[in-house]
This record gives sequence, C-alpha cells and structure tokens, in this order.
Amino acid sequence: MLATLIYRSRLNQTLDPSQLADLVQQASLRNAQVQVTGILLFDGEYFLQVLEGSLASVNAAYARISQDTRHGNVVELLRDFAPCRRFVDMGMVLFDLRVMQPSLVLRKILRFGTLKYKLASNDRVYKFIRNFIASPNGNGGVRNTSPEQWQFTIKTSPFASEAPLFAEQPCQFAFQPIIEPLRGNISSLEALIRGPNGGSPQEYFSTIAPNKLHEADLASKGWALAMARRLGIGNHKVAINLLPMSLVKIPGAVEILLNHITRNQLNPGQIIVEVTEDEVISGYEEFTWAIRQLRAAGIALAIDDFGSGFAGLSLLAKFQPDKLKIDRTIVTDIHLHGPKQAIVKAIIDCCAELQITVVAEGVEKIEEWCWLEAVGIQRFQGFLFARPMLNGVSAINWPQRLTRKD
Ligand SMILES: Cc1cc2nc3c(=O)[nH]c(=O)nc-3n(C[C@H](O)[C@H](O)[C@H](O)COP(=O)(O)O)c2cc1C
Repeated sequence: MLATLIYRSRLNQTLDPSQLADLVQQASLRNAQVQVTGILLFDGEYFLQVLEGSLASVNAAYARISQDTRHGNVVELLRDFAPCRRFVDMGMVLFDLRVMQPSLVLRKILRFGTLKYKLASNDRVYKFIRNFIASPNGNGGVRNTSPEQWQFTIKTSPFASEAPLFAEQPCQFAFQPIIEPLRGNISSLEALIRGPNGGSPQEYFSTIAPNKLHEADLASKGWALAMARRLGIGNHKVAINLLPMSLVKIPGAVEILLNHITRNQLNPGQIIVEVTEDEVISGYEEFTWAIRQLRAAGIALAIDDFGSGFAGLSLLAKFQPDKLKIDRTIVTDIHLHGPKQAIVKAIIDCCAELQITVVAEGVEKIEEWCWLEAVGIQRFQGFLFARPMLNGVSAINWPQRLTRKD
C-alpha cells in the first residue's frame, strides 16, 4: 500500500532561496534510500510538497521535515493511499515557480506521472498542485500566525478564586472563563458540573437514578447560579449546560429555571444555555419547543461541542443559536492541519452570514489561538487562557503583542 502526503509550508528567513538546490539534492538522496518519491513546488514564499512511499517512510520523512526550522507554518493538507506511485521514482524534484511558467510546470508534472498510475488532470493530488500554482497567496495559507509576537501576563480575575459551598449542595462546579483576548474582555463564565467531591460530570450523573436525571440536571442549574453569585458574577454572563430534555420532561421547567435566575439576583439576559448536538438530535420537535420557551424568556443559546457529533450542519439548517462552540477535537493542532482549517473557515463563513458568534473551545496552544484569531475568531475558552477552577475562577492569562524594538 502506498501512502501519499501533501503539505504546505512557508519559507523562513533562515533559508536563502539559493540554498534550495542543495536542500533538494540532499532530500532527493535521502528519499531515494527509503523509496520515497514526490515533488516540491516553491513560489518564492510557500512550498507545496507531495511525498509518496510506504506509510512508515512517508511518516518518518514528514516528521523530520515538519521540524525543520528553514520553513514554518507547516500544514498537512492530505493523507491518502494509492494503488501505485503517481510520480516516477526520482527522490524529489523541485519546481521553482519563480523561474518556470505555470503551464509548463503543470505539463511537466503530468509527464512525470507513472505510466501505471496514469496521472490525469482530474487526479486529486494534481488538483492540489494546480490550486497551489493558481493561488499567489500560498494557497489559502493564513498569515499573521506568529506566536513569537505575543507574551502572556497572568492577571487575577474579578471573581472570587474560591467560594464557600452551600451545606446542602449535592454537586460542585468548576468555572472557566470564555474570553476575548484582544479586547481584554471576559465574555462569560462557564459553570462545569462536578461531583460532590469534585469528580467528573459522569461520576456525578452516574449516582443519579435514570428517572431522576432531568430533575437533577435542572436542579443543579440552581446551584450553578447560586455559586456564580457567590463568586461575584455581577453583570457578567454565565453559561450553563442543560439537557434539552430537562426542559421537556420537567413540568414548568422554564419557570423553575427563571426562579433560579431571579432568586440569585441575575437576569435572563445574563444566562447562556449550552446544549450539545447529540442531545438535540434525539428529539428535534421537543427540542424546538424547549428552545422557544428559553428564547421567549430572554435566555441565550449556544450549541456546544459543534463538530464532534453527527448532526452539525443539518442542525444548523434547522436551528440557529446565538453562539456556536467549535469542539476541541477540531481546535487541537488546527495550525498543522489543512482539513480542520477548511472546516473552521466554512463554519466561520456560515456563522457570519447567520450572525452567530463563534467560540473556539479547548484552546491549549498559542499556535492554535494565533491561527484562529487570524481567521477572525474572537472568543476563546481553554487552558491557554484559564483552566476550570473548582468553586472558583482562576487567574487569566492575557496575551499582549510585544512591541518591536527596532
Ligand atoms: C521545504 C523542505 C522540504 C524538504 N523535503 C525533504 C524530503 O523530501 N526528504 C528529506 O529527507 N528531507 C527533506 N527536507 C529536509 C528535512 O527537513 C531534514 O532537514 C532532513 O531530512 C535531515 O533531517 P535530520 O537532520 O533530522 O537528519 C526538506 C526540508 C524543507 C525545508
């Protein structure tokens, strides 16, 4: 089985383009030793490389290449398998677009195709190459993603770092801020449910009889809001996770929720109810009814973990929330992964058209944040900025742009 990998990267100043020939010669020799073939395109700023060979050899070569400081912003675009090689066995061939006509490059590439593979213009790998040649700006590469231009400063949050529990409280909450880093603004605090000893949500819900699940879920929101008040939430917003079926199955659920809100001297406009896709798709009609109740009460809605379940886009077609939280599985290592980048760009376009605020959750690396900021996301949640803190709010790590000393 033959593995194919395509990546895009950007030249770093450390590589003088005149040294390219050397680089390619050495790469070619190395590749030939392990039967890796492929081509390298360079447009003066960006590279696009196709590597093909055994999975182990391609992975090993890519692992080395992606660590090479002579280029950066290395983004994997495609991993695939093919019945045989596309390119004739020649290690690595450079196509320097600064000195070659695009049409000539494309013709040559088609000619490099192996007879066995019959490389043709509708081939997917060939289309990546054609697209790279056609786009002068690095084929959709996102600029402005330099993590080194930021430094972080930890500042205590305006909330209590620890609030006392209520004597009869059956569960606890870890609070995590959702922030707009470049505005220095805390958009909301998410109250994440924990067990009576601080254990996971699963641990807490596993202690509850299935027929009491929705009752316990709704009741826990009262505790979440009471704790938020003890933390000094003031006029800030608080996000709570609610099973939509709790609104359907518990008679007067919305009134109960509104009572929790007013009893804690909050107003409905401060509350964001987060629901996950999985819960929603199990009963769409009932869900719609529940949502109407919440909207009519002035409560905002967010879809949580968007992209982790099955119903993402079809759900958006039926129901447009105020906020959409992109799941951490898409956010993780987004700066390295072309397919994830394409998905997030599409989500951003879609949400812009529908006036839905996008939040990226699970942001842990500065590179992830830089990429997401560069494509226009402004709200973030994740360990990079603040970890959830049991019964409190941790200090927040705020990024600041380093001023250049020329
Ligand atoms: C754009 C670019 C493409 C590269 N392509 C290859 C390649 O196809 N094969 C390869 O062995 N090294 C390639 N290299 C060089 C590797 O990154 C690395 O320097 C080399 O494999 C030696 O690795 P080592 O120092 O870990 O032994 C490339 C480097 C750059 C910047």
